[in-house]
Amino acid sequence: MMIKHMLALASLLLGCLAVTGAEASADEEIRQPAARGDHIESLLRQMTLEEKVGQLTQAAGGRSKNLNSKLTAEELDRVRAGRVGSYLHVAGAEPLRELQRVAVEESRLKIPLLFAMDVVHGYRTIFPVPLAITASWDPEQWETTARISAREAASSGLHWTFAPMVDITRDPRWGRVVEGSGEDPYLGSIMAAAQVRGYQGEDLAAADTVMAATKHFGAYGAPTGGRDYGSADISERSLHETYLPPFHAAMTAGTGSYMTAFNDIAGRPTTANADLVNGTLRSKWGFDGMIVSDWNAIAELMNHGIATTRSEAGALAISAGVDMDMMSLVYADDLPAAVASNPVLLQHLDNAVRNVLKAKQKLGLFDDPFIYHDTAKEAAMLRAQDHIDAARRVAVRSIVMLKNDNAILPLAGTKKRIAVIGSLATDRQSQLGSWRARGDKAEVISLLDGIKAGAGKGAVVNHAAGIDADNPDALKGAVALANDSDIVILVTGEDYDLSGEARSRSDISLPRDQQRLADAILAVDKPVIVALAGGRPLAVPGLAEKADAILMTWFLGNQAGPALADVIFGKAAPGGKLPISFPRATGQVPYSYGEYPSGRPADPDPAKDTNRYSDLPITPLYPFGHGLSYGDIELSNLELGSPTMDGSTPIEISATLTNNGKLAGDETVQLYLRDRHSTIAQPQKILRGFRRLSLKPQEKKTVSFTPTSDQLAFFGPDGKWRSEAGMFDVMVGSSAETIVLTGAFELTETVESKVPASAIATGVTVQ
Ligand code: NOJ
Repeated sequence: MMIKHMLALASLLLGCLAVTGAEASADEEIRQPAARGDHIESLLRQMTLEEKVGQLTQAAGGRSKNLNSKLTAEELDRVRAGRVGSYLHVAGAEPLRELQRVAVEESRLKIPLLFAMDVVHGYRTIFPVPLAITASWDPEQWETTARISAREAASSGLHWTFAPMVDITRDPRWGRVVEGSGEDPYLGSIMAAAQVRGYQGEDLAAADTVMAATKHFGAYGAPTGGRDYGSADISERSLHETYLPPFHAAMTAGTGSYMTAFNDIAGRPTTANADLVNGTLRSKWGFDGMIVSDWNAIAELMNHGIATTRSEAGALAISAGVDMDMMSLVYADDLPAAVASNPVLLQHLDNAVRNVLKAKQKLGLFDDPFIYHDTAKEAAMLRAQDHIDAARRVAVRSIVMLKNDNAILPLAGTKKRIAVIGSLATDRQSQLGSWRARGDKAEVISLLDGIKAGAGKGAVVNHAAGIDADNPDALKGAVALANDSDIVILVTGEDYDLSGEARSRSDISLPRDQQRLADAILAVDKPVIVALAGGRPLAVPGLAEKADAILMTWFLGNQAGPALADVIFGKAAPGGKLPISFPRATGQVPYSYGEYPSGRPADPDPAKDTNRYSDLPITPLYPFGHGLSYGDIELSNLELGSPTMDGSTPIEISATLTNNGKLAGDETVQLYLRDRHSTIAQPQKILRGFRRLSLKPQEKKTVSFTPTSDQLAFFGPDGKWRSEAGMFDVMVGSSAETIVLTGAFELTETVESKVPASAIATGVTVQ
């Protein structure tokens, strides 16, 4: 202890000496662009304490429409004085070039700035919301989306995006469910890795890549009651098995940074949780990049009740391993006082500065700070035609067909009178979703316009909003139109403002006016196809019972209308699958297909005392993994490469898909496993592989999965990952509830491993 203290004092003194030296002369070495580690150490030696905390400070340049609005003359002086290391909510090749110029030409140490924004599902070309893209069950869609977003954002002067958002949630009351990948850690891990690959590409220093900030590290998706920012009172086991795997998968894919969550886990806010951040993330997993706090979260440690002063809050966060302070100014204004009274903090501070400078180095900013500021490139890149085409393809693949009675869809070649009903049919803003970056609603093709364009020459398409605050007869008009048509497309659900940050709901059924409209339209004696909009699973038992078909359309981005039309009129087959269960009622959540078994398993017989509600069936309305398609695809022929597996060889599990229908269709074959008996009870099913396939009529494909023994592991009470020898059930199906093929194998030895089991991708081949 004594020695540690002396070392810290010595380093504080060295720091002071270096400061004096640096102030005396303008350093040649600093002027040269350099990207070497010794340059970082040299900079560090020359920095004053104020410049150090400056590097750790992220300030806002504005917000949405007001991007760059705060870049006043006074703000530029802060840059000159080295008091800012990064800006968020800024954009534009030209304005950011000027800001960067001030930093690298007019500040003492000439350290470039880092420019960041929430580019989450598109920058200018807006793609479907994240939950929807994950519903494609196709990681390629995420990789493409992220790649295009990175190309557009980087051309606009940005280096860093606050994405991917990988928070698992089993509580759809939580508004931020829209931003993530749903309830399952395996699916979430695959999608997290795909996004990191897309944003960062092969080379972070390239002019068309941006650094990912995987967020919100911890268990942000498990807030009590689904209320945003609330405490996650979860077990160590569920933290490691359910919430952390996608963060690990993002690290394996190379994420350059993480953002810590606002909330606490059992009383420990992640922003100050040294065991989790410095311990698990850095020491155990080996992450050596940068970590940023969430907005004002360092100051909010006082609200959590674990710091009494700002300076104490700063000391806690820097000691936990949080490098950059987003927007609280605690590091800038209050950390120096903490360092003065506790010199040990200086080591943490220096490490944080190193991590920030290393991130700038990886992005190539010391070599060429202006590489991201080519205005001609920016103009060519934003909404390039191939980006728009990709937005349509991703949107098509994100749609989930929940129901299709009597194969009413697709509506091919019909010369019909089609009534499109609902205000959401023309709501362009909603299609931009939760993080619209620089998206513009004028560039959205509405659902109505898409249907009109896709309906074909003979069809007549009319629209009635049904809901209109200024027109009391709107509902009557919609009913009259429905009566006067051959078929109704009812667009209902939530608008964009009912999900997202700070938008949790206690009731996730349809909003009241939407329910009224739906009831009125479903009472008309016409076939009704529902296009269901929303950023979360919705409890819609009435629609499920009465509509003829339901397409979950989420918020689909710029190409929402054409994508929906492609599916409705049969230009493309729907094939999305739910990444999260849809409950029958809000009271059924939190819910997951992957619950632990009960000693008294749920039984449909209400007379028995079992693990169920007395007023609801035991299953969800639509289960995890559910989604229909055109065609008629059958799963058959489960084969296991061997009845046993050991710790070193994967087991091969294969199944055949055959399209017996007349139309092409998609199916996502899903592999679930269950450890039959172990020292810790295991979930009833865990997803361990999936592959989405398109099959033409009569086409047949065989898909093989090769899980390894590490993927059978659970997080033991001793904090170790262990796969216990014994029997494992194999379940292959088209949803978590639709298991078609079953088998079993034996793991012949107990194996220890290091990586969270759900973070490991299963090998998949298709023949
Ligand atoms: C708060 C949000 O929680 C986070 O996801 C986002 O990146 C920051 N604000 C910056 O906008």
